[in-house]
Amino acid sequence: MKIKATVTSIMIGFLAIVSSSTIGADGAHTTFLDKNARFHPVVSQLGMVVSQETIASQVGADILEAGGNAIDAAVATGFALAVTLPRAGNLGGGGFMMVYLAKENKTIAIDYREMAPLSANKDMFLDQNGDVDNAKARFSAQSSGVPGTVAGLLHALDNYGSMSVSEVLKPAIKLASKGFKVNHDLSDSLLLSSKRLHKHKASKDYFYKAEGDYYLPGDVLVQSDLSSTLNRISKQGGSGFYKGKTAELIVKQMHRSAGLISLQDLANYKVVEREPVCGSYRSISLCAMPPPSSGGVHLIQMLNILENYNLAKLGHNNAASIHLLIEGMRSAYADRSLYLGDPDFTPVPVQKIISKSYAKAISEQINPHKARRSKDVYPGLDSWVTSQSNESEETTHFSTWDKHGNIVSNTYTLNFAYGSGIAVEGAGFLLNNEMDDFSAKPGSANGYGLIGGTANAIQPKKRPLSSMTPTILFDANNKPILATGSPGGSTIITIVLQIILNWAEFGMGIAEATAAPRIHHQWLPDEVYYEKGISQDTLSLLRSMGHSIQPKSRVLGSTQSIAAKENYLEGSADPRRQGAAAISQNN
Ligand code: GLY
Repeated sequence: MKIKATVTSIMIGFLAIVSSSTIGADGAHTTFLDKNARFHPVVSQLGMVVSQETIASQVGADILEAGGNAIDAAVATGFALAVTLPRAGNLGGGGFMMVYLAKENKTIAIDYREMAPLSANKDMFLDQNGDVDNAKARFSAQSSGVPGTVAGLLHALDNYGSMSVSEVLKPAIKLASKGFKVNHDLSDSLLLSSKRLHKHKASKDYFYKAEGDYYLPGDVLVQSDLSSTLNRISKQGGSGFYKGKTAELIVKQMHRSAGLISLQDLANYKVVEREPVCGSYRSISLCAMPPPSSGGVHLIQMLNILENYNLAKLGHNNAASIHLLIEGMRSAYADRSLYLGDPDFTPVPVQKIISKSYAKAISEQINPHKARRSKDVYPGLDSWVTSQSNESEETTHFSTWDKHGNIVSNTYTLNFAYGSGIAVEGAGFLLNNEMDDFSAKPGSANGYGLIGGTANAIQPKKRPLSSMTPTILFDANNKPILATGSPGGSTIITIVLQIILNWAEFGMGIAEATAAPRIHHQWLPDEVYYEKGISQDTLSLLRSMGHSIQPKSRVLGSTQSIAAKENYLEGSADPRRQGAAAISQNN
């Protein structure tokens, strides 16, 4: 029997045990610290796949058992999630993949983020008063960037996989054509999003029953048009999506819905391999996604700032240590607002932002007992450089690890749950609303409350700034020890930060590190978000230090991690959202 853990059936049992159900900002039904749960990682001496959806994790584990490597398993899982987790798994979105190749001891960063169409322009979401039209930026066909997922997954497979396109696509095609049993998570999520998805005929037809009712747990969801699209990719590779029938269907949908993506945009889509952004925290090192994700840069920046303190001595999730986390987050997100954008269009001062001396200068501005106000904290590089005369919500993450030590840490997304809500008629998949991750107007907040400037302004062929943070950690001997990542929009970077600190600084196991309650701050709005399980005493102390605490708790992210021990792997699927699973290869 396979060693398998679904979050609804195992998990959790110490720290503050609370049981509550909440609706995530992304429309996902979330369960935090389910009372039946225990803290157990899934263990394997072979390979492992951890993803947000059990069937997709099983697809990846089966690929490992069939002799595929971590890249084959990741690509198969990615395509399977496009069928079984339609709110975030996708063909019509984009993402980032970190690949570690054991033999070469090499880490690769694959950028398959969406690109702005050729006819996009910087003012496209402004109304006649010059204000941002949020509905247009988030829910219209113009909110879709040119999808990168199919090109990205195929790029990884062609270059680093060992199986054919048809082999890795076979399980996804079967799931789409024969159908799969809807789980509670998908059923809840479709119910929550029904108003939005019912506005578009194809979306309603694809994801609801004939009378418009949502699928109940145990119902079988068949996706014939999606299966045909996957078949075209299986037979023709990238051309099965970016050219020919699928491309024509996308463009027809654009004409129907007044969108911008053209045949030329699709034919021109390019995957980019980028130099990973790497840093260190005490004796460990880490490599993560560089711009156009802000994730890696600010993860490393926050770790650098926090390295100046003895957090372990202060204690996990007490007021003193949370205060320092908040102040580190505040400075990093202030910098994000000004300096980060697509490096193909705007110079991003990555090395300066991740330098230890800049972090030290920031830490010197932090009072260990008193909160700063965000209105008094500015992007800090300019003043630091001047004073140094000597001298960057709904998404999903999965991790795969094979028995040879190859690793994939992948985060991809449609942006919001179900993206723009607009499905491509005849092709069976939803389009992203990633154009909202651009800064539609300097100083205006996007759907996650993030402020941006001209570095992240809309331009044709540019990639919107992201927070996705797929990450791989290494020990002092440069041996990989952890693959992790999360959904959560603007909160992704601080979630990954806390997984790393819980694990590397506070000495938790990966399941414990995953389940521990999280906090988040992003400079603006000047508010601390927190999860249930942070004690009321701690929150009171933080208030007395001057922090503005959100009145209600919320659920932050859903990490899917694999950690390496001496001679085995430990996988942890986040208990916050139903349906996630770590599944080990058995032979
Ligand atoms: N769409 C969320 C992100 O890329 O950060």
